[in-house]
Amino acid sequence: MAKILVTSALPYINGIKHLGNLIGSMLPADVYSRFMRQNGHDVLYICATDEHGTPAELAAKKKNQEVNEFCKEQHEIQADIYRRFAMSFDYFGRSSSKQNLELTQHIAKKLEENGYIEEKTIKQVYSIDDERFLPDRYIVGTCPHCGYEAARGDQCEHCTKLLDPTDLIEPRSAISGSTKLEVRESKHLFLSLPKLEGKISDWIDEQEEWPILVTSIAKKWLKEGLRERCITRDLSWGVPVDREGFEGKVFYVWFDAPIEYMAATKEWADKDPENRNWKDWWYNADDVHYVQFMAKDNIPFHTIIFPSSIIGTEEPWKQVDYIKGFNWLTFYGGKFSTSSNRGIFTNQALEEFPADYWRYWLMANAPESSDSSFTFDSFTGVVNKDLNDTLGNFINRVLKMTKSKFGSEIPAGGEIGEAEKELATILDTRIADYKKYMESMQYRKATAELRAIWTEGNNYLAHAAPWVVIKEDKDKAACILRTAINVIRLYAILSWAVIPETCKKIMEGLNLDTEQPDWINKPAIEELQILPAGHAFAVPEQLFNKITPEQTEELTERYCGEI
Ligand code: 2FM
Ligand code: ZN
Repeated sequence: MAKILVTSALPYINGIKHLGNLIGSMLPADVYSRFMRQNGHDVLYICATDEHGTPAELAAKKKNQEVNEFCKEQHEIQADIYRRFAMSFDYFGRSSSKQNLELTQHIAKKLEENGYIEEKTIKQVYSIDDERFLPDRYIVGTCPHCGYEAARGDQCEHCTKLLDPTDLIEPRSAISGSTKLEVRESKHLFLSLPKLEGKISDWIDEQEEWPILVTSIAKKWLKEGLRERCITRDLSWGVPVDREGFEGKVFYVWFDAPIEYMAATKEWADKDPENRNWKDWWYNADDVHYVQFMAKDNIPFHTIIFPSSIIGTEEPWKQVDYIKGFNWLTFYGGKFSTSSNRGIFTNQALEEFPADYWRYWLMANAPESSDSSFTFDSFTGVVNKDLNDTLGNFINRVLKMTKSKFGSEIPAGGEIGEAEKELATILDTRIADYKKYMESMQYRKATAELRAIWTEGNNYLAHAAPWVVIKEDKDKAACILRTAINVIRLYAILSWAVIPETCKKIMEGLNLDTEQPDWINKPAIEELQILPAGHAFAVPEQLFNKITPEQTEELTERYCGEI
């Protein structure tokens, strides 16, 4: 049994996330955690809302709320959505916690003591009417290159040229529209990444197992050379910088957010200090295997900047062992966009269909080696064919037929023969492959294998044809159906990590404990005989509903109107 620490990138607090966020971090982390727990490992899956930064402040302002009140409310909303998506977090924390404040200040202090922090005075744009410094992207004006009138101070969205706020013609505040802007000087702290470059580069070279997507992004950053990074901001919402002359300043959101992985573990431990110790997972924790899940835009922060902050403390904090990175999930080939309301948001998704429909489609189409695209046609096809026809109908047919021919207990009679042995041999190979893909986090392959396992049940049934056999040999038909019911039991175990709510219903129908089932550990031929004759069962309610062409059309119209 290994100790496995799992974290998924922390979702920003300033709005409900879309499906792309879910498949890019939390969902695969949940599937991995469930699968590893089923295999007897001691898993701790930690996530949290990422609550600091200007976007959170502005979102609160827009709703006329105090920012801490806004964050509290939004945290509850997001937590509820993830609970409904069956995320099996051991703890879902908040980066604005006191634990994160203390740990962030502690890490900054250590970095300073070890000579990795520098203080510099920089020039920044100050908005007199907003009474605040403006981050580059909150200054808008006319692009000097293309004349686009709403170009942002960091980049022109229209011609994509990178900009400096001072390049803008007629600059104004994106918050208030005020043109009363001036350049002011302000003191800030910088993390001396160049001093840590050698250590971080050696550490990355050691990571031979990491996927190419992850190492290539990390190495590209290293190749371009690391520059000092400003880790403080002139804002009031965030972790205060506890240093003389820095009153009214906070750490940059990207400095405190990854520290929240550790701090959220402390939040978890503080709920039950007698039985939980957060440092067991983070400090001198060589016995822990730590896996992170994230989309590709987060990779530089998790491979270079955060590990540098940790190395620079010269304390024995746990570093990540494996990073599973994802490409983008697109919406009809274009961007999901929170700001332009394009795509399906997690709350809307749950209003349309149960969580397992989404979980299955997303895992089957995970953007692993390249981007993948969501369309309602694809979603309909996958739900109807894989979930409804291949899995749902098999379960329904087998249990209904058994009930009508033999009653509500698994029938006795007959003995397993060639067909069952053949099925068991095929299942042994397929289950081993499925397990291998799940262990190595190759989710498209794993889901394809799971689907193939479901198909094997249908193949067996079609070939064994109990509805024909029963006319001649009732015992043999009983044996076929008994085997098929045991196949259903295997499906509930094997599919649990991906579609847990459906599996719960299946296990209820089979009168089995509906808690997380252990992974199978016997050869399939033995597993196929575990549920004995006489074991009572019930036919579960319809597990999946087919999506009609009219529904698909209506959904397409509703969500893609502007595409
Ligand atoms: O990109 C994002 O959504 C960030 N909120 C991820 C933060 S991950 C971690 F470092 F906290
Ligand atoms: Zn431009």
